Amino acid sequence: MSKSTCSLCQLWHSSIGKKIIVALTGIVLVCFLAGHLAGNLLMYSGAEAFNAYAEFLHSMLHGAGVWIARIVLLTCLVLHVVATICLVRSNRESKGQGYENEKTSVASGSSRIMIWSGLTILFFIFFHILHYTVRVDSELAGLGDNGDAYAMVILGFQSWYVSLFYIISITLLCSHLSHGVASIFQTLGLRTRNNAQLIEKGALAYTAIIWIGFVSIPFAIYFGLLD
Ligand code: HEM
Repeated sequence: MSKSTCSLCQLWHSSIGKKIIVALTGIVLVCFLAGHLAGNLLMYSGAEAFNAYAEFLHSMLHGAGVWIARIVLLTCLVLHVVATICLVRSNRESKGQGYENEKTSVASGSSRIMIWSGLTILFFIFFHILHYTVRVDSELAGLGDNGDAYAMVILGFQSWYVSLFYIISITLLCSHLSHGVASIFQTLGLRTRNNAQLIEKGALAYTAIIWIGFVSIPFAIYFGLLD
């Protein structure tokens, strides 16, 4: 086995290594969300701009670009989830029957919320890919295949319960982000007493932008601002 493969194994087998993996993959996912939001906000510029953007994504590097992005994202998502599950399990094992003191129960409370919001996000991503990428609904498939991604998104949000599911999932995603983004700095040792407040405020501002931006789309469609 080469030296670099060994270093990767060592990283995976240590607790701090797994935390670093969660943080680094978290950065990739956080950047993806910002990029995905910026693209989706083109819905407000009209069908032509949004469809041109969708076409650009699919034709990048002669069609290979979107697959490279998918592989990178999927790898990061799997590593993020598996490393987190391993950390939670080894944390529980090392705590044994502990939960006696208040500090421990507060910490386990917040990580429990992170796990549940994380699992909901996974379910949401699965639904979302079937909805807009695979397009299991034949009406959406027809529009998407004709290159009208704008009409596909509008039609996809015609149902109030689909829109409500998106809004609830995005809210849970943001609850996950509000805790996760600040934790990245802590894990990577970038948080100091001087910048702690700035990091907290920055994480909150990023989360608020993500929430408002994504949630605004089903709302705007429901209230007829986009059609
Ligand atoms: C209002 C909110 C959203 C809208 C309108 C939206 C729109 C879309 C559309 C149209 C696609 C299909 C792109 C294509 O293949 O042509 C897509 C793909 C995707 N979206 Fe979203 N999205 C939203 C929220 C989210 C959120 C919150 C996440 C992350 C948790 C997310 C993650 C993804 C992923 C992973 C893909 C698959 C990319 C691919 O492989 O094609 N989306 N989205």
